[in-house]
Amino acid sequence: MISLVSILIASFLAPEVSAVIGGDLNCTSYNGTAFVYTPAAVACSNTISDASCAVLYAAPNTLYPAAGNDAQRAHACYTTATATPAAFVADMKTAALTNCPKTCGFCCQTDAYNCRNANFPRLNCATITLSQCNSVAWRTIIAQDCPSSCGFCLSGGCVDAVTNCGTDLSICQNIGMQDFVNQYCQKTCGRCASSTTSSSSVTVTSGTCTSYIADTTTQCAAWATNGFCTNTFYTLAQRRARCATTCRIC
Ligand SMILES: *[C@@H]1O[C@H](CO)[C@@H](O)[C@H](O)[C@H]1NC(C)=O
Ligand SMILES: *[C@@H]1O[C@H](CO)[C@@H](O)[C@H](O)[C@H]1NC(C)=O
Repeated sequence: MISLVSILIASFLAPEVSAVIGGDLNCTSYNGTAFVYTPAAVACSNTISDASCAVLYAAPNTLYPAAGNDAQRAHACYTTATATPAAFVADMKTAALTNCPKTCGFCCQTDAYNCRNANFPRLNCATITLSQCNSVAWRTIIAQDCPSSCGFCLSGGCVDAVTNCGTDLSICQNIGMQDFVNQYCQKTCGRCASSTTSSSSVTVTSGTCTSYIADTTTQCAAWATNGFCTNTFYTLAQRRARCATTCRIC
C-alpha cells in the first residue's frame, strides 16, 4: 500500500521535477534561465529503433530531450556512472552517437549536423526550426549558410529545394521540366553551381583592399549576426556605408 501511494505521489510529482541537463552540454543553448536543447539536438533519426533507444537510454525523469526543454539525458548517453556528477566516458558517448543520437539529444554532433556555418549567415542559424529545414523557401539558403541546423553538412551546400525530387529521377531529363528542376531539384539533378565545394567555404564577397572604411555604428557585430552583411534587402552601398569593416566590404 505504501509503495502504491508513493508511486501515485511520484507520478504526480514527476512532471514537476526540475530537470537539469548535466554532464554534457553539447547541443544545448542558454535561454536566459536554463540550458535547453537546440532544435538540432533532436533533429536526426536514431540508427536503431526508437523503442530500443528508449530502453537503452531511458529518460531519468520520464521526459526525453526535445527542442527547448531541459530534460536530463540518460546517464548512459555519456557515462558509465548511474548518478550525477558523472565522469565523461568517451566510449559511452560514441555508442550513443552511433545508435541513438536523437534519444540522447546529440544529433548536433553527428556528421550531418557537425560543421561550421557561414560567418555571416542570412538568417539566425540557432533558431531554425524543423519546418524551415523542409521548407521550399528556406532549404537552399540554409544549406549554404546554416548547414549544421538541418543536417546539411554532408551536402556541400547543395540541396533540393523540395524534398521529394528523388522519387522520379526521369524529371531530370524531361525537357518540359527543366525550369522546375533547375529551381527545385538542383541536388538530385546536378544543377548546383559547384556541388563539390564545401559549404564551409561560403564567405562574404570581398574585394582586394587591405583596409576598410570604419563602421559608422556600434551595432555592426549584432547586425552581422542577424545577416546584415549578406542581406540583399540592403544594397552593397548601404552595407558599406554602415559596416564596411565588420562586413569586410572594400
Ligand atoms: C561535448 O562533447 C565532447 C565529446 O563528444 C566532450 O569532450 C565535451 O566535453 C562536450 N562539451 C560540453 C560543453 O559538454
Ligand atoms: C528556459 O527553459 C526552461 C526549461 O524548459 C523554462 O522553464 C524557462 O521558462 C525557459 N526560460 C525562458 C526565458 O524561455
